[in-house]
Amino acid sequence: MRIDIITVLPEMLEGFINESILARAQKKGLAEIHLHNLRDYTTDKWRRVDDYPYGGFAGMVMQCEPIDRCISALKAERSYDEVIFTSPDGERFDQHVANDLSMKENMIILCGHYKGIDQRVRDHLITREISIGDYVLTGGELAAAVMADAIVRVVPGVIGDEQSALSDCFQDDMLSAPIYTRPAEYKGWKVPEILLSGNEAKIKEWEMEQAMERTRRLRPDLLDR
Ligand code: ADE
Repeated sequence: MRIDIITVLPEMLEGFINESILARAQKKGLAEIHLHNLRDYTTDKWRRVDDYPYGGFAGMVMQCEPIDRCISALKAERSYDEVIFTSPDGERFDQHVANDLSMKENMIILCGHYKGIDQRVRDHLITREISIGDYVLTGGELAAAVMADAIVRVVPGVIGDEQSALSDCFQDDMLSAPIYTRPAEYKGWKVPEILLSGNEAKIKEWEMEQAMERTRRLRPDLLDR
């Protein structure tokens, strides 16, 4: 899988893609993440990527031209399954979207600025607009980092024990059961007896009940899906 991230702030993402799970996936040859500085696709000496809006509205607007030039250059090298724009009014990012995107070969993520992008980019170049939650960030870089992390970690082989990606909370629209490690007792705080019993069937049943109870209490909305 290959993810190309287009941004005006590549420095913000550089450390992240070279340190996190993304670095591990890249070392294993399971993913490639490339950053593209949008300013490298400008033609003026100020390397401007935005301009004043038509209609006398406030703020600045990211221009079509550098974005189109960057996306065209990428598309000349390979084909892309998705060109994603990070935006608070996009479809909501969740585990299902992460799973779906983890099966794509190549994707572009354009880090946007809400209200600040020429609509023609959205109309002609973008295939999917994605929001990471109902709040407004100052730019799409954090959203791109969140998405890349969640997408790459479910690519088979990226995290050692495949079972652990499959048993993540949200994989079944449920929160996870509580989990413990040694010692069995610390300061009088005890690990539930059932987990020490060695009875696998009973432990599975307990886990299921705990997960259900937690989901009902903290995220009842998940059970409606
Ligand atoms: N850009 C600004 N806010 C965002 C959000 N919530 N999700 C994705 N991109 C954004």
